Amino acid sequence: MTAPAGGAPLLTVEGVVKEFGLRRTLGERVTRTPAEGHRAVDDVSFTLRRGEILGLAGGSGSGKTTLARCLVRLIEPDAGTIELDGTDVRAARGKDLRELRRRMQMVFQDPYASLNPRMTVGTALHEAGRVHSRPGSENAAQFVREALERVHLSASAAERRPRELSGGQRQRVAVARALAVDPEVLIADEAVSALDVSVQAQLLNLFLDLRDELGVAILFVAHQLAVIAELADRVAVMNQGRIVEIGDTATVFGHPQDDYTKALLAAHPRPDMGNRASVAS
Ligand SMILES: Nc1ncnc2c1ncn2[C@@H]1O[C@H](COP(=O)(O)OP(=O)(O)OP(=O)(O)O)[C@@H](O)[C@H]1O
Ligand SMILES: [Mg+2]
Repeated sequence: MTAPAGGAPLLTVEGVVKEFGLRRTLGERVTRTPAEGHRAVDDVSFTLRRGEILGLAGGSGSGKTTLARCLVRLIEPDAGTIELDGTDVRAARGKDLRELRRRMQMVFQDPYASLNPRMTVGTALHEAGRVHSRPGSENAAQFVREALERVHLSASAAERRPRELSGGQRQRVAVARALAVDPEVLIADEAVSALDVSVQAQLLNLFLDLRDELGVAILFVAHQLAVIAELADRVAVMNQGRIVEIGDTATVFGHPQDDYTKALLAAHPRPDMGNRASVAS
């Protein structure tokens, strides 16, 4: 089932724009000056290929989360096209939108955002599969066991509630919940950023396994360049709502062309591309 990295385009994004209105000052309200929009995402285009991990880097406020949320229509973009394997994401309504959201799953920095604190892990995993009528979800115990295995958690985790798990375990459950509905794309927004370095490394290995074994394409949003260097096949760098540079990770980090990428790299500990072999093994 190994999917070659850099396969056919799966998610195609073109000219996406998201503006947030700024509040008007009292003076502007008195003079009826219209509020100016702030372009959080400004004409962004890229493709995510089957079976690849695309890193999305950029400083705080550069628009990474806003872009990620636009892709799954958690917020509505103002312009642009988003296609998942030829299906127009922006035009989808009702049942079609639900199906697209199944196919593109998000994993957040805070796993509590996607896990109900009152539900046991097993119930949450089974519910996710049942709601979307996933094959195998009729047999709850087995469905849950397999979902936990996929993220290398023991079956006993099924009985626990989110707060009874460590941060790393909880994030694995969030990933398992996303995978329980058989997505083609995972969008991870700072999914490992709050974890300590050793737990982070284990999760990065998990993401690599998911790409290789399930062939799932991953958009991996992270402000830590070292994490992206270890994980991503390609990287896109965002600044002030725009993608300023995109390409093969080793090339972009090794020979940055854009001034902002250069500044970003200079401000971070140099990502060590040599780590990739050890993480991947
Ligand atoms: N709901 C909102 N209303 C108004 N402005 C917003 C909203 N969400 C985000 N913004 C603004 O859009 C810009 C981009 O924010 P975003 O959260 O996408 O950045 P980010 O790259 O994810 O940053 P970080 O690395 O800190 O997570 C920021 O200027 C932010 O203040
Ligand atoms: Mg963010």
